[in-house]
Amino acid sequence: MSNPASPPAVGVLAERPPLTFPPGFLWGAATAAYQIEGAAAEGGRTPSIWDTFSHTPGRVVGGHTGDVACDHYHRLDSDIALMAELGLKSYRFSVSWSRVQPGGSGPANPEGLDFYRRLVDALLANGIEPWLTLYHWDLPQPLEDAGGWPARDTAARFADYTALVADALGDRVRYWTTLNEPWCSAFLGYGSGVHAPGRSDPGDAVRAGHHLMLGHGLAVRALRAARPDAEVGVTVNLYPVTPATDSPADADAARRIDALANRFFLDPLLRGSYPADLMADLAPVTDFGHVREGDLATIAAPLDLVGVNYYSRHVVAAPVEGAAPEAYWRAPSCWPGSEDVRFVTRGVPVTDMDWEIDAPGLVETLRRVHEEYTDLPLYVTENGSAFVDAVVDGEVDDVDRLAYFDAHLRAAHEAISAGVPLRGYFAWSLMDNFEWAWGYTKRFGMIYVDYDSQVRIPKSSARWYAEVIRRNGLAAQ
Ligand code: FCB
Repeated sequence: MSNPASPPAVGVLAERPPLTFPPGFLWGAATAAYQIEGAAAEGGRTPSIWDTFSHTPGRVVGGHTGDVACDHYHRLDSDIALMAELGLKSYRFSVSWSRVQPGGSGPANPEGLDFYRRLVDALLANGIEPWLTLYHWDLPQPLEDAGGWPARDTAARFADYTALVADALGDRVRYWTTLNEPWCSAFLGYGSGVHAPGRSDPGDAVRAGHHLMLGHGLAVRALRAARPDAEVGVTVNLYPVTPATDSPADADAARRIDALANRFFLDPLLRGSYPADLMADLAPVTDFGHVREGDLATIAAPLDLVGVNYYSRHVVAAPVEGAAPEAYWRAPSCWPGSEDVRFVTRGVPVTDMDWEIDAPGLVETLRRVHEEYTDLPLYVTENGSAFVDAVVDGEVDDVDRLAYFDAHLRAAHEAISAGVPLRGYFAWSLMDNFEWAWGYTKRFGMIYVDYDSQVRIPKSSARWYAEVIRRNGLAAQ
């Protein structure tokens, strides 16, 4: 949490000095299985909650689904050639659970594992470090039918699946993250219901959050057993939460949202406890009876790194009687027990997602994790922006996205100068893809995808990022 909101300083590109990053800084780009692979019913893959959700009318804009997505499953080699052209040092991808373990239990599917083996081998052959995320939101549908993440058994299923993947790929993948953004899985999936599986129950959302973290802890154990020298971590999405004014009521609203958005995950994962104020706020929703003895020790298993996804800041104010709730992830029910806190917009520039652009928030976020929680190496495992892109004469000149990256890399550098052990940065995203409930209507890629022809066009930001990687920093502008 930080002090009352003031608009972030808007930098002027022309006045920016050159910056060099530490030697060996891991420059990467990220994607996720359901967002790019397609081939939803091929190679033995069975449906996940995102298949079911996207095929349910009214859930995703335009009725879009991940059936074909970027057809990455069939375009592996040419996509990796694009990564090599960019000069990526690392590529963060996720494994589709229902591709490698159809149905979410039982034996591995050799054909599914083979796809990821080919991916990893091709990355290594191109000198690109594979960074594997085990869970980027695509729970096998039968596990949801058996209760989903609000059910404790799902955590054990996740550990079994992890062991299968570790056995198959542990000899060639060094960097592993267990979960991507458990806040979204829990509070958008089971709270507001704007993400799969689309359920809406505040108690279920809290239980889902706990069982996701329990699954993480058990998965860390499975990874260590299979591959003692792996670098293991988790990715959380963090937001600075700022009160709209300096009134005590707004400060309390910020404390509540900070507890749900950030400390709900950071405290158990890195300190082995839930914050007392969070538990008090959630008392009307749950008695935390789902937390069993030993869970928090499992959840706080020692890690090798922490992944931080950063996009924007929350600015919040105390409830006002009769105020209308806001939509999407600001929807009231993704904040159990604090449904009536108001999310305030400051009128600063926003992306096509309507997310406020706030690069200083990245410095605050990284410093907070380092200064309040851990000395572990940190990685920005996602950062990026959606803007409306236009193809003109076969080119996409995405100056806004480029400026967003530039500002956030300068923020990342500032965090390093302030003592944060930041070891890498992954742009979200390598290419345009299926943006969850927004379908294909939001473009985050450095590479443009024409979804009709599957032609890829590197945007200006891709060329710029290649140069950043080449010089290990930013040129004077
Ligand atoms: C993050 C997700 C990622 C993508 C970006 C825009 O929350 O991890 O898959 O949707 O947002």
